[in-house]
Amino acid sequence: MMDIRQTDSQIVEDQDALNEMVMMDHEDRRQRADKNAEDLDVPMLTGAECRHLLVNFAVEEFEVPTGICLEEMPLFTQWHLPLKLTAILMLLTLLYTFMRDVLQPFVAQGSSDFYKIPIMVVNKTLPWTAITLLALVYLPGVLAVLLQLQRGTKYKPFPLWLERWMSMRKQLGLLAFFLGVLHAIYSLCYPMRRSYRYKLLNWAYQQVQRNQEDSWVVDDVWRMEMYVSLGIMGIGLLALLAVSSLPSVADTLNWREFVWMQRILGYVALLLCTAHALVYGWRKWVEAKRYVWYTPPSFILASLLPATVLLVKALLLLPCLNRRLEQIHRGWERPCPQKERQVSGEDSKIQ
Ligand SMILES: Cc1cc2nc3c(=O)[nH]c(=O)nc-3n(C[C@H](O)[C@H](O)[C@H](O)COP(=O)(O)OP(=O)(O)OC[C@H]3O[C@@H](n4cnc5c(N)ncnc54)[C@H](O)[C@@H]3O)c2cc1C
Ligand code: HEM
Repeated sequence: MMDIRQTDSQIVEDQDALNEMVMMDHEDRRQRADKNAEDLDVPMLTGAECRHLLVNFAVEEFEVPTGICLEEMPLFTQWHLPLKLTAILMLLTLLYTFMRDVLQPFVAQGSSDFYKIPIMVVNKTLPWTAITLLALVYLPGVLAVLLQLQRGTKYKPFPLWLERWMSMRKQLGLLAFFLGVLHAIYSLCYPMRRSYRYKLLNWAYQQVQRNQEDSWVVDDVWRMEMYVSLGIMGIGLLALLAVSSLPSVADTLNWREFVWMQRILGYVALLLCTAHALVYGWRKWVEAKRYVWYTPPSFILASLLPATVLLVKALLLLPCLNRRLEQIHRGWERPCPQKERQVSGEDSKIQ
């Protein structure tokens, strides 16, 4: 250890000096520190710097095997790509929502809706990204199945990009869950906002002015009851998936149970979340005023990819395709036409 340290930089020498200091009593330590500072021509360290070096020392000396260099240990390598993808998606959805919900009213009517950014805009960005990530968890499985059906075998390896994508589904799923939870918390906080309370008062005042006694709209009531309920069930299932992916829980499940949970509950969660977004949209799909600056509302764009994944999955469950897929999974291979021709040629020669 000392040999390595002697070849190390000046900072490590300072650390050595500090290591010795730890062993000495307080008074002695202070005297030595003064002396060392003079000898090594090192400025006196502040308390924070000292703590930092001592923590480094404790970890280096006692907790990590000597062969391991802490600085070279990888940091969340499996999460790099999923996190980058999440950041890109969030940025794009944020810009889109900002343009529609804040910029358009400002440019068109001069109304200052910038107060919407911290909650309303963010709470469109979060679920849009979450549901897109969730769809990206189940899309590669569908692509893999289509590839297997087209090739007529399960023995050909998948393309590298697909394998890589499939290997990061856990991270994508957990990120989708995380953003879904944030979205749920943001949504449940809506009525707490002062802006909401002022709006409620204004609506009540306008209602009185119109001499309208009852503001109950059956359609709206049903829409909200349903989409909130679907959202809660969706987040509940995602929570189950997240819990089952903890190693301590996954270890108690056998392979079939784990795959069943991840596959079936996962698809049900995707279905519930997509239904949640669609019911939230309700009739807004056809209302012309929703298409500001000729752009579709975010819930339409958010539900496109998950709805496509669900539709293709439903098609794959059709008996004609499902039966062939089961055969492929059991090891059946479609006879190669070239091989067939060779075999029939050899047969005719023998005759
Ligand atoms: C909150 C959350 C947590 C999650 N945690 C985890 C987790 O801990 N671990 C995890 O793995 N996933 C996790 N996921 C991801 C997700 O649940 C799974 O990827 C899910 O099992 C996908 O199912 P699938 O049917 O689409 O794909 P698959 O089960 O991969 O099947 C797709 C098709 O490809 C075929 N196939 C797959 N691999 C091969 C292969 N090597 N060779 C030949 N054929 C193959 C299958 O037979 C099938 O036809 C999580 C998701 C969420 C939302
Ligand atoms: C407790 C659970 C949930 C509640 C209470 C909830 C509530 C809401 C609310 C109030 C809205 C309307 C937001 C607005 O007016 O701007 C909404 C929209 C939406 N939610 Fe949820 N939600 C929940 C879970 C989820 C989950 C798990 C997902 C997906 C992973 C999801 C995806 C969406 C989408 C895509 C929209 C449309 C957003 C848009 O306009 O672009 N929700 N939800």
